[in-house]
Amino acid sequence: MTANELRRTYIDFFKTKAHAEISGASLIPQNDPTVLFTTAGMHPLVPYLLGEKHPAGTRLVDVQRCIRTIDIDEVGDFSHLTFFEMLGNWSLGEYFKEESIRMSWEFLTSPDWLAIPPEKLAVTCFAGDDDVPRDEESAAVWKSLGVPADRILFLGREDNWWGPAGETGPCGPDTEIYVDTGIAGTSASRPGVSDGKWMEIWNNVFMEYNRRADGTYSMLGRKCVDTGMGIERTIAILQGKKSVYETELFTPIIADIERVTGASYGSDEATDISIRIICDHVRTAAHVIGDEAGVSPSNVGAGYIVRRLIRRAVRHGRKLGMADPFLASIAKTVVGMYESVYPTLGAKKEEVLSELTAEEERFLATLRKGEHEFEKLLPNLQRNPARVIPGRVAFRLYDTYGFPIEITEELAREHEMTVDREGFEEAFRKHQETSKADTGAFKGGLADHTDTTTRLHTATHLLHKALREVLGDHVAQKGSNITQERLRFDFTHPDKVTPEELRRVEEIVNEQIDRDLPVAFTEMTLEEARKSGAIALFGDKYDEVVKVYSIGDFSREVCGGPHVGSTSELGSFRIVKEQSSSQGVRRIKAVLES
Ligand code: ALA
Repeated sequence: MTANELRRTYIDFFKTKAHAEISGASLIPQNDPTVLFTTAGMHPLVPYLLGEKHPAGTRLVDVQRCIRTIDIDEVGDFSHLTFFEMLGNWSLGEYFKEESIRMSWEFLTSPDWLAIPPEKLAVTCFAGDDDVPRDEESAAVWKSLGVPADRILFLGREDNWWGPAGETGPCGPDTEIYVDTGIAGTSASRPGVSDGKWMEIWNNVFMEYNRRADGTYSMLGRKCVDTGMGIERTIAILQGKKSVYETELFTPIIADIERVTGASYGSDEATDISIRIICDHVRTAAHVIGDEAGVSPSNVGAGYIVRRLIRRAVRHGRKLGMADPFLASIAKTVVGMYESVYPTLGAKKEEVLSELTAEEERFLATLRKGEHEFEKLLPNLQRNPARVIPGRVAFRLYDTYGFPIEITEELAREHEMTVDREGFEEAFRKHQETSKADTGAFKGGLADHTDTTTRLHTATHLLHKALREVLGDHVAQKGSNITQERLRFDFTHPDKVTPEELRRVEEIVNEQIDRDLPVAFTEMTLEEARKSGAIALFGDKYDEVVKVYSIGDFSREVCGGPHVGSTSELGSFRIVKEQSSSQGVRRIKAVLES
């Protein structure tokens, strides 16, 4: 079964179980400051898991593109990926453990669907702890389906608990389904140990709790199910492949890297690792830049991750002998593979390719500058009889010139020196702690639906519309981030917004607040929303039903909510800062005062 077939089969199966197909959301979360990227299918659904009404109903199914960078350093092995597609089905207060598990079992084992032999499957359930009891209920359902007791494992929070993507949000125990890959494994082999033998393909989360910003839990108003099945891993298993890289989602990209670099996959471990890293990172960067809310390489937030991915791919290209930009030709293959599934990516192809090349050129220039700086430091460094480059020097090259530590080490080797790696890590950690402290304030947000964040969310809609009135209709949302303290709004605009323009925007927003406008939503298709003049990130599926929030006659915007009932609840709106965010994108921070 190919990835395309699996996508279709999964959706079809859940449609036979009365689920409504919804489209996946942007890879860049809107309004949610707790994460940089959409990390799981449930992430765009958080407002609904917390109780908002979903326009498509209470049983949903979709395919969601996801990015997880937590394991970025593991990429290069056979299984870790930064970009993947996740199939998911949801119950919003409808079915719970029993029906969810029964449907999973049917989809996996029935000859009409995936037809995986039951004897190849094993499952894990939550073992329980001081806060939450052992999940006997799930285990009993598995047993009733014929899963033998020795194939039902109880594991702790580390394995069988789904925590919120950010600091806050819906969570609960899960039951995970594993397939025996037939790979030998180790004496420690069991589901949950990643030695190749047992591969997790599906996770059913039973959400009953909401984690609050202060770390405590409340019960969700209704119990929900959130499941996730990774497409890449699942087709590898269905195709009997030992690694995702042997499936049709990767082989064309690898063939392309071989063609462009002249390296050959399978020749030696170091080459293979470099090829897999280039493959993964270009794939991810192309999807992020080509997203409907696409992000370009920059020094902050999601843009910084894109930059890191591209630069790491360039470094591995250098290892394969590439001195000039080459990523665009690889990305062309990635876009070609996905454009029928994600038309926006296809439409943004030229932008993806040129952004990649521009970043490669910038990085190559950085490398030249860093090398130059290194040469200047060299006589001094060579005076050190131990021939060790101090960690703080390596960190300065990294921090000031963007010079990766591996390249400093490479140059050091060429001059028969080493780098104090520990000292570098130490300097790096200190730096990270400082930047963590900077982002410590960015907790909460709409993921916790407090009154404050909800008010700021409504104010964001007013600001968006006011900006379009004052600056023009070219203003489009590029990002929104809401904390307990302020809103932050990124939007396309070529120039600095003048003080007069900002004053006018503030005035308009405050006028609308004074008008005591009602805030309400109606449901319609995305196409109807577009025709009605609503502002939206128009993605791929025009026939999908969405919520359109209107604020009196002033603003109409496609949005999941929640919002206040009336603008008079907002208080007084004040812009505190206007600055550049990246090329052609401005950023406004604003507050509401009583
Ligand atoms: N949210 C769960 C996961 O991503 C289903 O594994």
